[in-house]
Amino acid sequence: MNVSPRLRRISPSLTLEITSRAKALQKAGVDIINFAAGEPDFETPEHIKAAARSAIDRGKTHYTPAKGMPELIEAVREKFKRDNGLEYSAGQIIISCGAKHSLYNAFQAICREGDEVIIPSPYWVTYPEQVRLSGAEPVFLETAEEVGFRIDRERLKSLITPHTRALIISSPCNPTGCGYPREDLEYIADLALKEDFILISDEIYEKLTYDNFQVISIASLSREIQERTIVINGVSKSYAMTGWRIGYLAAPEEVAKAISSFQSHSTSNPATPSQFAALAALQGDQSCVEEMRKTFEERRDLMMDRLSGITGLACQRPVGTFYVFPNISFLNKSSREITAELLNEAKIAVVPGIAFGRDTNIRMSFAASAESLGKGLDRFEEYARRR
Ligand SMILES: Cc1ncc(COP(=O)(O)O)c(C=O)c1O
Repeated sequence: MNVSPRLRRISPSLTLEITSRAKALQKAGVDIINFAAGEPDFETPEHIKAAARSAIDRGKTHYTPAKGMPELIEAVREKFKRDNGLEYSAGQIIISCGAKHSLYNAFQAICREGDEVIIPSPYWVTYPEQVRLSGAEPVFLETAEEVGFRIDRERLKSLITPHTRALIISSPCNPTGCGYPREDLEYIADLALKEDFILISDEIYEKLTYDNFQVISIASLSREIQERTIVINGVSKSYAMTGWRIGYLAAPEEVAKAISSFQSHSTSNPATPSQFAALAALQGDQSCVEEMRKTFEERRDLMMDRLSGITGLACQRPVGTFYVFPNISFLNKSSREITAELLNEAKIAVVPGIAFGRDTNIRMSFAASAESLGKGLDRFEEYARRR
């Protein structure tokens, strides 16, 4: 049976592929240290799990409105007000099956055939594929490691054409862990107004930031900017809830309305017990988030400390996420070759930078215990020394 050309263009997620390869080796008894994880290694906090159990026990196991239940939409509105200083009406919020689904809906809603979407590179693997699925074309904006992967203003301007429909902002960024300062966001916002394009702001790592880095939602810069921004967020990373599949977006009302209809014919509502869990996450005690954040920060320090001891290796200090993105060009091999050697010889799983558009780097996640990270870093150091 022939697969449609639309889907034939899509490649599988390399990050998920590596994680499952590492897991298969572990299952076969090989002692692999996993630096490839794309999710927190913590348990979902108990009060969140309890809320889902209680929802099931109370018979909350049926459909909700396709765009999410009103209580959760209200909690998301509150969250935007509390954390980002953003006011939205209930009609502007859509709850979906993870931030990935929210992003997919956003591109489907705004892109036309032949549109261009600018993606700062390195980028999260899913952005280009979702842009292509919407009929638009990804246009990559290369950023320099030496300046913390910040956007080069002249380069950005040079990529704008009459077809430019949107720009993706991912701050803090997966895979680099870097974030944009206010002045960069202000520049981007001014340009979006002047050149008339939409901003898609992916704020999924908002709560996992270090060194007092403050995430500023670009939508909060002005009313005009809010009206041309779609904000993406969710509970997956902040509350260790990746498997529950709850994400959300806030968009101008007419876009949200279109997404609501689209979702009503595609997935309908995200799982009802998961929505109750997300409600408990957003409305409950937030100290669990701070505890996880602090642990991640200690691990980030451990990673940076150990990586700085490897001769020839350069690594930007992440201000958020749970990834570091070291430059391994001193090894004179492609990131895929290095990833294969690290897995087969050093018994550590990492993700090749090429998956994120940068062949000179690898992504290492610190979503693992300090003990495991230490052991894996010993192996990495030994591997680098032997080259
Ligand atoms: C930058 C970025 N955005 C969105 C997502 C998707 O999150 P979710 O699990 O809520 O779909 C991820 C997950 O890895 C991510 O790294």
